Amino acid sequence: MIELLWNDPINEPQMSKYLSALRVKDGNRVVDFGCGCGELIIRLCECSDIVATGIDSSQPHLAEARRRAARRINGAQIQFVEANAAEFTVDESPIDIAICMGSSHAFGLGPDSFANALSKIIPMLAPGGQILIGEGYMKQPASPEYRAMLGDSSPDSMTHARNVQTAKQLGLIPLAAWTSSEEEWDDFEWGYQQIVEHNAAEDPNNQTAADRLSARREWMDAYLRWGRDTLGYGIYLLKNPA
Ligand SMILES: C[S@@+](CC[C@H](N)C(=O)[O-])C[C@H]1O[C@@H](n2cnc3c(N)ncnc32)[C@H](O)[C@@H]1O
Repeated sequence: MIELLWNDPINEPQMSKYLSALRVKDGNRVVDFGCGCGELIIRLCECSDIVATGIDSSQPHLAEARRRAARRINGAQIQFVEANAAEFTVDESPIDIAICMGSSHAFGLGPDSFANALSKIIPMLAPGGQILIGEGYMKQPASPEYRAMLGDSSPDSMTHARNVQTAKQLGLIPLAAWTSSEEEWDDFEWGYQQIVEHNAAEDPNNQTAADRLSARREWMDAYLRWGRDTLGYGIYLLKNPA
């Protein structure tokens, strides 16, 4: 969603904390897989003299990312690439910091999308390199109705502890793991809701906006009935052994 700063249930102070925890250094090569509107990687560029790449498959999101970057940072610091994250490979220097917030599905959908995303990123990481990845987890098993909406993503076994375990099994060292609060989730879901409601109201003859609103209202019902108590969001800071 282009109107939001970022597309994760994370508030401003928490996001600042996660980005600070990366301890980015000048000269680091940073790649954001599924960067959306680029806010996170632009913020890292604002703090350090990094070599940054944001990858996303959505043209509108990349256009917004480029617009934000042009206003705030030196354009030579960053490139935004329209590509399928799953097909991205590093050319010369390995990645010091990989970001993948809410975008593991860019490496393939399904029950193993988290492990799959990590497995694809790890070979591109420098020794001692880090990954900041945001991923869903299950607070409790999904009701049959909610499972029908989720499909095979976020299986019931995918708890917060299991996500950390998955990273360890792939050889990564967990440095930190956090979870989004109910307030952050409510801000995120209702923030979306407001935008979609306003857009539809402002353009009543726009069928796309109307369809989006009806899908969004259905999603909000599901969020209130089941999602709020069932689906969590974990943020994992992981290190490649040196
Ligand atoms: C939930 S959004 C997260 C965006 C951003 N990481 C953030 O935190 O705001 C997921 C993003 O993944 C992108 N995406 C989905 N499939 C992709 C793919 N195969 N390759 C690259 N990006 C993809 C979408 O366009 C979208 O911008």
